[in-house]
Amino acid sequence: MNCDANIFFWAIICSCIINRIHSASSLESYVLACGASSNATDANGRKWISDTEFLNAPEKTTSATAQSQDPSLPSPVPYMRARIFHSKSSYKFSISPVKRHWIRLHFYPSFYNSLNCFDSFFSVTVDGFTLLNNFSASITAQALTQAYILREFTLIPIKSGALSLTFIPSTNYDNSFAFVNGIEIISMPEIFGVVPYVGFSDMSMDAEYYSMQTMYRLNVGGQFIPGTNDSGLLRTWYDDSPYIFGAAEGVSPKASKKVRIEYPSSVPKYIAPVDVYTTARMMGPNQTLNLNFNLTWVFQIDMNFTYLVRFHFCEYQLSKANQRVFDIFINNQTAYSGADVIGWTGGKGVPVYKDFAIHVDDKSGDDQLWVALHPDATSQPEYYNAILNGLEIFKVNDTKGNLAGINPVPSPTPESPEKRPAFSSKSNNHGQTVGIVLGTVAGFGLVVAGISFFRYGRKKVVEGNGGRSSWLPLYGSSRSSGTKTSKSSGSSRYTSSGGGLCRYFSLPEIKLGTNNFDDSGVVGVGGFGKVYKGYIDGGTVVAIKRANPSSEQGVHEFQTEINLLSKLRHRHLVSLIGACEEDNEMILVYDYMANGTLREHLYKNSKSNLSWNQRLDICIGSARGLHYLHTGAKHTIIHRDVKSTNILLDENWVAKVSDFGLSRTGPTINETHVSTVVKGSFGYLDPEYFRRQKLTEKSDVYSFGVVLFEVLCNRPALNPNLPKEQVSLAEWAILNHQRGTLDAIIDPHIKGQITLDCFKNFAEIAIKCLSDNGVHRPSMGSVLWNLEYSLQFQNNPDGPERVAEQKANEAYKMHTTLLTIEEEDDELYEGQDEHSANEVFSQIVNPQGR
Ligand SMILES: *[C@@H]1O[C@H](CO)[C@@H](O)[C@H](O)[C@H]1NC(C)=O
Ligand SMILES: *[C@@H]1O[C@H](CO)[C@@H](O)[C@H](O)[C@H]1NC(C)=O
Ligand SMILES: *[C@@H]1O[C@H](CO)[C@@H](O)[C@H](O)[C@H]1NC(C)=O
Ligand SMILES: *[C@@H]1O[C@H](CO)[C@@H](O)[C@H](O)[C@H]1NC(C)=O
Ligand SMILES: *[C@@H]1O[C@H](CO)[C@@H](O)[C@H](O)[C@H]1NC(C)=O
Ligand SMILES: *[C@@H]1O[C@H](CO)[C@@H](O)[C@H](O)[C@H]1NC(C)=O
Ligand SMILES: *[C@@H]1O[C@H](CO)[C@@H](O)[C@H](O)[C@H]1NC(C)=O
Ligand SMILES: *[C@@H]1O[C@H](CO)[C@@H](O)[C@H](O)[C@H]1NC(C)=O
Ligand SMILES: *[C@@H]1O[C@H](CO)[C@@H](O)[C@H](O)[C@H]1NC(C)=O
Ligand SMILES: *[C@@H]1O[C@H](CO)[C@@H](O)[C@H](O)[C@H]1NC(C)=O
Ligand SMILES: *[C@@H]1O[C@H](CO)[C@@H](O)[C@H](O)[C@H]1NC(C)=O
Repeated sequence: MNCDANIFFWAIICSCIINRIHSASSLESYVLACGASSNATDANGRKWISDTEFLNAPEKTTSATAQSQDPSLPSPVPYMRARIFHSKSSYKFSISPVKRHWIRLHFYPSFYNSLNCFDSFFSVTVDGFTLLNNFSASITAQALTQAYILREFTLIPIKSGALSLTFIPSTNYDNSFAFVNGIEIISMPEIFGVVPYVGFSDMSMDAEYYSMQTMYRLNVGGQFIPGTNDSGLLRTWYDDSPYIFGAAEGVSPKASKKVRIEYPSSVPKYIAPVDVYTTARMMGPNQTLNLNFNLTWVFQIDMNFTYLVRFHFCEYQLSKANQRVFDIFINNQTAYSGADVIGWTGGKGVPVYKDFAIHVDDKSGDDQLWVALHPDATSQPEYYNAILNGLEIFKVNDTKGNLAGINPVPSPTPESPEKRPAFSSKSNNHGQTVGIVLGTVAGFGLVVAGISFFRYGRKKVVEGNGGRSSWLPLYGSSRSSGTKTSKSSGSSRYTSSGGGLCRYFSLPEIKLGTNNFDDSGVVGVGGFGKVYKGYIDGGTVVAIKRANPSSEQGVHEFQTEINLLSKLRHRHLVSLIGACEEDNEMILVYDYMANGTLREHLYKNSKSNLSWNQRLDICIGSARGLHYLHTGAKHTIIHRDVKSTNILLDENWVAKVSDFGLSRTGPTINETHVSTVVKGSFGYLDPEYFRRQKLTEKSDVYSFGVVLFEVLCNRPALNPNLPKEQVSLAEWAILNHQRGTLDAIIDPHIKGQITLDCFKNFAEIAIKCLSDNGVHRPSMGSVLWNLEYSLQFQNNPDGPERVAEQKANEAYKMHTTLLTIEEEDDELYEGQDEHSANEVFSQIVNPQGR
């Protein structure tokens, strides 16, 4: 079985990693399950102790169990129990007077007995600092489409040695109450020092004297890192891709295994884990392009605060100074000019971090923080490029010791709750609850806490792409292609690309999106099961493929498809958005292809009427997709099930190859073919493959040849109702070709449209595809080239002379657009080892036969 897939499916649940940090047992760290009467252990094996003995006046509080358990809760402990405060109440902890502490507050807004958390507004203070004010966990959770909220603060040492954490219900609302589900007070080393102010050459802030709220903590170019995998401080690190501005997301090659990360004395190990330093986001390989854009991240923040922005760097590709030099901008101001990681560290694999402070006032009315990198051409580096490994953004307390912002504004639900199957709240009549169930369920499924994310609801699209589900550590790295076309996402400025990461959906989310798999939403049925038209994120149309549990195409195909599709991105391949594996369900979520399958537009539907030019465009598009599969990646990928129902059409009639369930990698260097059990669809099966079980990419070429004739003749690959010699389209076409009567079997609808030269050229290449012997079949590249040639004939009746010229251009263009993920990384820097790319690729494809 595929190991990566196993990691995907079980790591999340079973990442019940042994808690390496025994902070709970050390005297000055407290991990409290609030409202719990006894000590308990969470799903990660972490111990949470009852909060009763730390309360000043426990009798003034109550405790309760949440009425329902949202499936996205990572663990019932500490979220299912809450401590409820009806009046001002405090916890007291005795702590070291000289140490900084993390304070993490966990909130799960739900129903507790008769209490609805929508009525709850409260403040939280700690020794002169206001952590939260007029805070509504429900509104915040709804806006972030998260079931629960985690807020992290870092508190300067409290000299008295007694930390008092106070919850104060708001007096602005009747019946308001405060609640909390979990509290962590954890001592930590001082990690802050003197920080320069951006925009002032002579001003700095001694961050040691400030308390802060963690706003963002990102493993840039890398994956989600749970607290248990942090380097000792139990911090959670998230994927940065949701915050990338625009389509220019650069590339994120992982460090080769050979690069050892050596922490210098100036960077203690607890500053950031190795995983942060072995992944990075860089600009792409095209230096001309790099000079014309900024690698930019955009964050929602609160106005009227100072922010400490910490950049983590570690160069693992280059080893000399002045090879990669860049400028760092924060909010369009130069924070650092001429940043040179090797110049700072002296060598490869050595981490370094840089802090900057910036004040964000409300003058511009902009509640965003922009972080941008740009090659520094003035220092004439060897490469025009930039790199970033990690990024942390902390909000610094204001002069009054305040850290609290305002509640985010939830975005309106695109469809009214009544229209949606509100399956988990049918019986209650609190409209608000429906809202929050929608919020959480239509949001993202499983896993991790959304730590201190402050994204307003109107940036729904960002959340849609980068919510918790896409932080899921599906694969070892999140390489992404710089040539990827960005999908437009309505009015949002953000792209919906999520790097190479595949998003995880919860089953309730899928059920909600398909009206509990209502058959009226079925748009297709295949060997694997049904395909539904569905909705995610409150309105985005997607295709949802639900594997039939009894399907012979089982777990393996499912995993293959995830593995392949989550890494491959091409205009002519259907994009996988995410997957769901829960309750024995195997579900894949794709971009919705509005115009269905190619077959539907041919003989299957007499109403539709594709012109010859449209058909040719579709053939060219699908040939491009297949050519990319065969040659775009380092190893050949054989589709194995090319047919007209696996060629889908989007709303602009762009053809996209789909259904990689049967795909596998092609032969390795010293094999000429791969022996496997024959799979595929009759009518399209390569006879050589069928006879000798010899699989090469030429099997796809054969099947594609059948598709070309389907398009030309407008009839199915197999039609048992016809006379024997006509049953198989391939045989019928070959027979007519031999007889010189091919033109007699052309679809009468297009007979008048197709030019003779175009037809000749098209038929010639299609017949070659059907050669009995794979060696005599053209490559997919050659098929593509010839189809484009045919199109030229169709469009330029004046002759092939001019065409020949264009041909060369076309071929060149084609080649350049075929630059792939892997190639890009390898070509980025000479002398850099290919090893890492190979390694990653071997994770993408399943090397085992079926
Ligand atoms: C919970 O654990 C703490 C610390 O390990 C211990 O002092 C306390 O007695 C335990 N309480 C219960 C109810 O078991
Ligand atoms: C966390 O660390 C463990 C052990 O080092 C590793 O097996 C696991 O894959 C890591 N999890 C993530 C999400 O990085
Ligand atoms: C780099 O990008 C520019 C602008 O798009 C393009 O003209 C040039 O051909 C590209 N260079 C390479 C080597 O691809
Ligand atoms: C920011 O501070 C100014 C001056 O203190 C105040 O007038 C303004 O209302 C504040 N803005 C916000 C959004 O809090
Ligand atoms: C930075 O500049 C961009 C483009 O010029 C602009 O859209 C953005 O609002 C600016 N950001 C800030 C924080 O000023
Ligand atoms: C990059 O960002 C800086 C600061 O906002 C801006 O001055 C510069 O014009 C940007 N460069 C490009 C190419 O967008
Ligand atoms: C942070 O709070 C402390 C304590 O209230 C205060 O002395 C300090 O001035 C505050 N920091 C800022 C930046 O105002
Ligand atoms: C408290 O938050 C709510 C919701 O965001 C807001 O409508 C209200 O104005 C706030 N009240 C105060 C006193 O700030
Ligand atoms: C199909 O298109 C052809 C040419 O455009 C036209 O003559 C014919 O009437 C169309 N048929 C249908 C069913 O629309
Ligand atoms: C193709 O898609 C477009 C856009 O969704 C739609 O308007 C058109 O009706 C579709 N055509 C067919 C034949 O389905
Ligand atoms: C390739 O051939 C060599 C020598 O014949 C053999 O040792 C090696 O295992 C083969 N590699 C593969 C991938 O089959």
